[in-house]
Amino acid sequence: MPGIDKNSGPFNLTLNREARAGLSEQIRSEITQAIREGRLKAGARMPSCRDLAVQLGVARGTVRAAYDMLADSQLLVAKGAAGTFVTRYPPATPAKATPSAVTMPLSDIAYDFDAPPLTFQMGVPAEDAFPVNVWSRILQRHARTMSGRPMSYPDPRGSLALRQELVAWLAMARGVNCQAEQIIITNGYAGALGLICLAMNFHASQAWIEEPGYLLACKALALVGIEPVPISVDEQGILVSEGIARAPQASFALVTAGQQAPLGMTLSPVRRSELLAWAEENNRWIVDDDYLGELQLGSRAAPALASLDTAGRVMHIGTFSKTLSPSLRLGFVVVPPALAARFADIAAVVAPASSFVLHNAVAEFLREGHFLRHLRRMKRIYADRLEKMIEALTPSFPELRRGALAVVIMLPPGSADRAIAREALAWGMAPSPLSAWYQRDELRQYGLVLGATNMPREGFLPGVQKLRQLVDAHGISLSLAVKF
Ligand SMILES: Cc1ncc(COP(=O)(O)O)c(C=O)c1O
Repeated sequence: MPGIDKNSGPFNLTLNREARAGLSEQIRSEITQAIREGRLKAGARMPSCRDLAVQLGVARGTVRAAYDMLADSQLLVAKGAAGTFVTRYPPATPAKATPSAVTMPLSDIAYDFDAPPLTFQMGVPAEDAFPVNVWSRILQRHARTMSGRPMSYPDPRGSLALRQELVAWLAMARGVNCQAEQIIITNGYAGALGLICLAMNFHASQAWIEEPGYLLACKALALVGIEPVPISVDEQGILVSEGIARAPQASFALVTAGQQAPLGMTLSPVRRSELLAWAEENNRWIVDDDYLGELQLGSRAAPALASLDTAGRVMHIGTFSKTLSPSLRLGFVVVPPALAARFADIAAVVAPASSFVLHNAVAEFLREGHFLRHLRRMKRIYADRLEKMIEALTPSFPELRRGALAVVIMLPPGSADRAIAREALAWGMAPSPLSAWYQRDELRQYGLVLGATNMPREGFLPGVQKLRQLVDAHGISLSLAVKF
C-alpha cells in the first residue's frame, strides 16, 4: 500500500506518512491504544527512544515527543537511566462498548478481573500494605518443600497445619472454640457458600438474606436454586421478626453479623439471641459471613456468632480475601461437630481444598505472628484513609453514612446511582450504587458506596470532585438526600 509503513514492533505500530496526524501523534495514539487494550502491560519497560526511532524509521525526537505526551497523560513514566515504563495505574478512559458473544452475568458488580483496584472500589485490600517480601519468602520456602514431597492426594479438607492455626486464631480473635476436624479450607467465601449449599441440600428451599446485602451472595443462592428472601436490616442488624413473618419455612439465614455488608453495623446482642433461638427451636441454620471479622476499626470486634452457638446451628465462614488478598482464593468454613463428617465427604468428592503450598504458607504466616502484625498495620491505614475520605467528601456531600471500611453518600430517592457508578468507571473510579444492594423496589435506597481501602496517590479529593460533577450532571439535588 503506497505511503504506509507497516512496522511490526512490540506493539505492531503502524505509521501512515500521508495522514494528517503527525508521526509523534500517531505513535502516541498507537501506544495509548496498546496500553488500554492490555497489549502493553502495566509496569512494562518501553523500548528506548533511539531503538524505537530506528525501528520505525523516524527521528529520535519524534519518538521522544510521543513519550513526553504519554508521560503527561500519566500513561508512561520516565525513570531516568532505568528507562521508560508503562505506569502501574493507567488512568481510565471512557470505556468503549466491546462486542462480546457472552454477556457478563455479573456485570453490575464485578469489574475487570485481574485489574488493579480503582478508586473507591469496595472489597479489595490496600495494595500498598501487603507484606510482599515476607510473604514471598514464606511462599517460596513452602513451594520448595512441597516439590520434594510424594505425589499423593492430600486431605480434601485442607492442610492440617492451617486448620490447627485457624483453631488457635479463631479462639483468640473471634471467640470461636472448635477442633481442626470442624474446619474445611475453601476457595474463599464463595467456595464455602457453595460447599454449604451442597452439603446441606439447601436446593429448592428459601433463605433469609439481608437487605441491603451482598449482591453476589444473593445471586449465588438464586443460581443454585435457593430462593433468597430479602429481610430488612436496621441499626441492630437483620430484623429476625420480619424473617419469621416473611419466610417462616426458610432453611437458613445468611448474615454478616460482625459488620453488616454494606452498612457496617454489628448484629446486636438481642438480635443474636433471637436469631439463635429461631434456628434452635425450628431446626434451622445460620450461615455467618464473617468476611470483616478481623478488620473492625476503632473498637474491639464482637465475638463471632458461632461463639454463642450451643445448639450447633451456626456455620461460620471466614476468608483471607480482605485480610491478605482476594487473589489467593482462600477461605474456610467452621461447621458444628455433628456436620463435620458430612462436610468432609462432600469436600472429598466434589470440592476438595486447593493447594497445600498456599495453606502451609498461610499457616506459617499466622504462626510466626506476621498475620497479626499485618492486621494491626492495615487497621491503622484504613482508619486513616477512612478519615481522609470523609474529610474530602464532607464539603461536597452533606449526607454521609459510615460503613465498615466504606462510606455511603446518600442520594435522594430515585437518583440514577447506577448510571453515575457506570460513568465513574470511565474516570478510574468504582463507587458501588447503593440501590443495587436492594431487592425490593419499595425499600430501595439510593446512594454511592465508596471503599476507603485504596487511596490514590493524589488523595481522595480529585475523585470526590469528579463524583460531585457526575451527580450534578444528573440534576440531583443533594438537599433532598435521605438520612439513613
Ligand atoms: C459481604 C462479603 N462477603 C464475602 C466476601 C469475600 O468473598 P470471597 O472470599 O469469595 O472473596 C466479600 C467480598 O467482597 C463480601 O463483600
